Amino acid sequence: MKNLQKFLFTAGLMIAAASLFLASCTKEGPQGTAGKDGVNGINGVNGVDGLNGKDANASCLVCHTIANFDAKIAEYHLSKHYLGTSSSRNTKFCARCHVSEGFQQVQGSGQNVVANDMPAANRINCTTCHAHTGFDFSGDTVSQVLYTTAPVSLLYNKGASATDFGALNNLCVNCHQIRGATALVYSDTTLTPDVISKPFEQLPYFPFANASDNDTVQYLVGRSFSVHDGNQSNLFAGINGYEYKGKTYTRTWTHSTNACTDCHMNEYDAATKEGGHTLIVNKAECTACHGGDKLTLIQTAIDAKIIELRDLLVTKKIFKKTTTTTGFSYAALPTHDFNGKLFPTTQTPGDLFATNSTNNTVSPTTGLVVYGIMLKYAKDNDFAIRLGRPMKYGELGAAYNYAYINSELSKGVHNPGYAMQILQNSIDWLNAN
Ligand code: HEC
Ligand code: HEC
Ligand code: HEC
Ligand code: HEC
Ligand code: HEC
Ligand code: HEC
Repeated sequence: MKNLQKFLFTAGLMIAAASLFLASCTKEGPQGTAGKDGVNGINGVNGVDGLNGKDANASCLVCHTIANFDAKIAEYHLSKHYLGTSSSRNTKFCARCHVSEGFQQVQGSGQNVVANDMPAANRINCTTCHAHTGFDFSGDTVSQVLYTTAPVSLLYNKGASATDFGALNNLCVNCHQIRGATALVYSDTTLTPDVISKPFEQLPYFPFANASDNDTVQYLVGRSFSVHDGNQSNLFAGINGYEYKGKTYTRTWTHSTNACTDCHMNEYDAATKEGGHTLIVNKAECTACHGGDKLTLIQTAIDAKIIELRDLLVTKKIFKKTTTTTGFSYAALPTHDFNGKLFPTTQTPGDLFATNSTNNTVSPTTGLVVYGIMLKYAKDNDFAIRLGRPMKYGELGAAYNYAYINSELSKGVHNPGYAMQILQNSIDWLNAN
């Protein structure tokens, strides 16, 4: 891709630029005496080879010119990593992806989450993604200045072998993956002590252990099957959608061998402020091969499919549609209360169910999550739209697939074929069952 070509060229160009710079100095005054040669490198000791001395101009100035760094900083200032609201997610279960120190800590510890809340952490910046791991730039430039390029042990299959998304992608995939567990601390005034703290229980849907799409699962109040924003790596690789038994799925597509950066850090365009370290795709670069906009077509088709699935999930009593001030909101309707008691489809006077009355909030002063979930015992007002039985995996899977594509943000662009298959197969299964 264009960006790769650009990078290979840069090394040569910058060396040329360094000598041009010296030449242009002569216009401003008489030439000074020649500088001293650089010192030799370190000699080998005890059988360990010494390092050759490097010509700093040639090897460091490939990147370390003020102009290049200023340009990178300006571009980074246009990216969501800088502009987004990330800095307020520095709680234990969020910090690994939302703040710089959190990311760096888990790279060292190998844990899923950081050890403690990080009140004084910094947003994602140059040092999150960059660190010098070596200085021998002959041949390889970029991988030696990235914080990590190691394969990623995905949060949902920790313990299984790490997945290699390709060196550059591994950096991004550490954060741009399905989130996994969060914490849940709740208060229940009917119990002593009344504040209970336990790890948030993620539904057992990953890896999908069910033998049949008709196997059942309890969707409890307080449990989540949400993928969270950021599962771009999964769609791009065509993995971890809910896949119906007996169906075949196409995982690879034309751009499977490309890196995230081939599109998200393609040639920077100063006029549109896209490309480079903005991480916004410079779409003009795509038309060279595509001849026109093919993305809108894909996104329109996926959008329509998402809505078709969403409305079907409401009809099938998997989703609840709620009127809001701005329109409607949709959420999966639990089949059981917080303590695992089935919600029936009729109301019996005096029958009470445990649900949460308040939720966790983010403190505007510390940026930390304030755990405020309080259990309330009340009659159920949603009885008329309840399923009245545990969910089938096929149903949960359809709801999960909706969330998978809906929160992925590219609207199918990251793998049009797989995105359409997991949506269409969900619709077909719900209609047939
Ligand atoms: C492929 C590009 C590239 C090359 C080549 C390169 N660097 Fe860097 N260097 C970076 C990046 C990116 C950073 C991180 C910038 C930041 O954190 O602000 C960095 C950071 C540094 C830092 C640390 C600055 C800090 O704040 O921690 C030093 C020192 C440094 N480089 C020296 C060198 C030397 C000496 C060479 C040549 C032997 C060199 N670099 C070659 C890209 C490069
Ligand atoms: C330390 C974790 C982390 C790393 C590493 C990371 N990202 Fe992100 N990325 C985030 C978070 C968190 C956000 C959301 C920022 C916000 O809105 O506050 C984000 C936002 C983005 C967005 C904008 C999405 C939107 O909401 O509009 C793009 C595009 C993006 N990242 C691409 C990349 C690419 C490409 C890489 C690898 C070169 C990468 N990211 C590496 C965590 C990370
Ligand atoms: C595995 C990495 C990961 C973890 C852990 C994570 N996030 Fe995110 N989050 C992301 C990425 C990547 C994005 C941006 C990309 C996107 O929107 O698709 C994002 C986006 C968001 C957004 C929308 C953009 C914004 O900044 O307003 C919110 C809100 C958010 N995260 C909250 C949280 C909270 C709260 C937690 C902890 C309970 C958390 N996240 C944990 C990766 C993560
Ligand atoms: C989200 C991760 C991320 C952040 C944040 C980030 N970079 Fe980079 N940077 C990369 C990646 C990935 C590459 C390699 C790009 C490629 O191969 O095309 C790179 C390449 C570079 C290079 C070498 C390539 C060149 O064109 O000179 C420099 C220099 C650099 N970054 C500087 C910076 C500086 C300065 C900052 C902070 C203002 C920064 N980066 C922030 C991921 C990041
Ligand atoms: C073939 C090019 C291509 C590749 C490769 C690619 N993306 Fe994208 N990505 C896009 C396009 C196009 C969009 C839609 C952006 C738009 O509509 O402006 C997008 C959207 C996104 C978004 C949402 C941005 C937003 O502002 O809503 C994130 C985050 C993202 N990609 C991350 C990644 C990550 C992480 C990878 C690697 C695993 C990746 N992308 C690989 C082309 C690509
Ligand atoms: C080197 C040529 C080339 C470049 C540059 C290129 N593509 Fe492609 N792309 C192709 C080819 C070839 C196909 C497969 C044939 C087709 O669908 O037109 C394709 C297919 C796609 C598809 C799937 C289309 C479908 O209907 O299944 C998407 C999405 C896509 N490209 C996005 C992008 C984006 C985004 C960019 C710019 C960041 C980009 N491409 C740049 C060659 C390229």
